[in-house]
Amino acid sequence: MVPPVRTLAVASIFWVAASWFRFAQAESISVATGSEPVTFNRHIAPILFRQCAECHRPGQVAPFSLLTYTDARKRAKALQEVTAAHLMPPWKSIAGYGRFIGERRLSESEIELFSQWAAQGAPEGFHGDLPDSPRFADGWKLGQPDLILTMPEVIPVPAEGRDVYRNVVFRLHIPSGKYIKAVEFRPSNRRLVHHAQLCLDTTGRARARDAADPAPGYDGTGKPPGQLFPGSLATWTPGHDPVPLPDGMSMPWPEEADLVVQLHLHPSGKPETEKSSIGFHLTDQPPRRSMADLLLLDMKVDIPPGEPAYRTWSQILLPIDVEVVGVFPHMHLLGREFKLTAYPPDGTPVPMLWIRDWDFNWQVYYQFVVPMKFTAGTRILMEAVHDNSEENIHNPNHPPRRVTWGEQTTDEMSVAFLQVMPVHEKEFPRLGLERRGFQLGIIRATQPPPAAPTSSPMP
Ligand code: HEC
Repeated sequence: MVPPVRTLAVASIFWVAASWFRFAQAESISVATGSEPVTFNRHIAPILFRQCAECHRPGQVAPFSLLTYTDARKRAKALQEVTAAHLMPPWKSIAGYGRFIGERRLSESEIELFSQWAAQGAPEGFHGDLPDSPRFADGWKLGQPDLILTMPEVIPVPAEGRDVYRNVVFRLHIPSGKYIKAVEFRPSNRRLVHHAQLCLDTTGRARARDAADPAPGYDGTGKPPGQLFPGSLATWTPGHDPVPLPDGMSMPWPEEADLVVQLHLHPSGKPETEKSSIGFHLTDQPPRRSMADLLLLDMKVDIPPGEPAYRTWSQILLPIDVEVVGVFPHMHLLGREFKLTAYPPDGTPVPMLWIRDWDFNWQVYYQFVVPMKFTAGTRILMEAVHDNSEENIHNPNHPPRRVTWGEQTTDEMSVAFLQVMPVHEKEFPRLGLERRGFQLGIIRATQPPPAAPTSSPMP
């Protein structure tokens, strides 16, 4: 069946209309009532502290701090604009399309407060209303890891020029009887590191390339330098807290494997260096269930110059009952829109994920709060839109040129990695992964150790 492309466009128009309406409403409220003034100390600071300061404070990824009245006042208009446009806090999925761990968004009334505050001249308010400044634990987010690796040497990043991709190889030894449950990546310099990808290499190739390159690590291309870690463990992006593997899942580590970390580094304007650490949280629990990445991809990408809405799609028919743990959508600079929908055999579509304003720099793994369960025969459809027009501010080509599938950031992709666990473990082989040659992020359930005897203590 041809994907229902129509709905995308219609829905976007509806969305624009709805947000304009909200915006108009907010304006009229502030003008009409004027009863209780919206102040920094009472209304704005609590939102900034809770939703923005994590990144907008010294030493973090955002370019300026938003901790004080002076910081916020001079940007009142910008704060209103970025919140109304849903650009900040950065969270790309649209409410109502899947529920994800770590979702970060403002309520409509919070957005209105920013708008009213700007319209009223950004008053400070009573000092007594100001909440305490937020405290941030600058340590590990998930507590002290069981194992920490730190890069042996710093990676120099020039002041200017193109982004740097660098692969760093580590020997990782996980004690026998232990499994990886969560991984926490920590950059030393948050202004530099755009994202990091964790891979496993059992071929020795990464180690050989590292040895052949005299500088620390070796050049990356943006392509994963090995087999990506499963799901939430694969990618680190700024401001996204580490998410452990779901219940029943853990990652076994092959004895002789290397860990390869790819850093995407962005010059900051002055020469700097990076020395990242990676913390591993281990568990005694072997994986009780199997998990695999299903790949939805459309490689027929061939986007004519100037094309504002180039559509690609891919679908998969689930051969068995599965639980979908999460999804990692992937496009490059020209990506605009991404949608994932499930069509169970009974025909009622189930929205899974919708991103309307794709941004290459804010790619995250979307892990569902509760894995989504689908029966055999469900069709899962991925739809993507690329914008190769001059109007796309992320278009690297002026004038636009023809863009096709490829690994460079200036080529394009249209992919979704869908992580699934079979509902009935014995059906795993029926996913047919081997047959299709997909060997991505597969974890097979292993036999759990015999349960310890439970004694019921006397009251
Ligand atoms: C996860 C980290 C993160 C959080 C949380 C965050 N920001 Fe940002 N913000 C950034 C980064 C990085 C930039 C600069 C790059 C960009 O625009 O994407 C930025 C840029 C901005 C800008 C400038 C935009 C421009 O176009 O110049 C404003 C204004 C802003 N943020 C406001 C906010 C507000 C208000 C909040 C909270 C409601 C917030 N941010 C939350 C990371 C964050």
